[in-house]
Amino acid sequence: MANPTILIVNGPNLNMLGKRQPEVYGRETLADIETAARSHAASLGLDVEFRQSNHEGDLVDWIQGARGRCAGIIVNAGAYTHTSIAILDALLAAEVTCVEVHLSNIHQREEFRHSSFVSKAAKGMICGFGSHGYILALDALARLIRES
Ligand code: DQA
Repeated sequence: MANPTILIVNGPNLNMLGKRQPEVYGRETLADIETAARSHAASLGLDVEFRQSNHEGDLVDWIQGARGRCAGIIVNAGAYTHTSIAILDALLAAEVTCVEVHLSNIHQREEFRHSSFVSKAAKGMICGFGSHGYILALDALARLIRES
């Protein structure tokens, strides 16, 4: 049987990782994160679809497309985390277990980063561990999938 598929969705400005505020987000690029996520997922018997867009509608389309197809979604919606009811609605409509990830600890940062629309649809949230958060999210999903 085919491995369960995990959709990993990255939002705006995450294509700039490595160059963007490295003191906040680290020096790894998104390509580095993708490589590590793919290799860890393979060790867990999971397949990964890894995507990034600066456009809200792309994220909505990809999340909708996971419905009935993917076993889990990992979402780092970037700044849309704090603004996008459309992404929240897409996650609710998709009915796929979601883990929210942020590289930085959003609760230690500006007030406007403390609230998350994504959290309302997520099983849980991992923030503050840098790129390792994606690995932790894969572990969490692997366990949930095994238990279901
Ligand atoms: C982020 C946190 C957001 O507040 C910010 O807008 C980002 C990245 C993170 O991964 O820490 O773009 O989601």
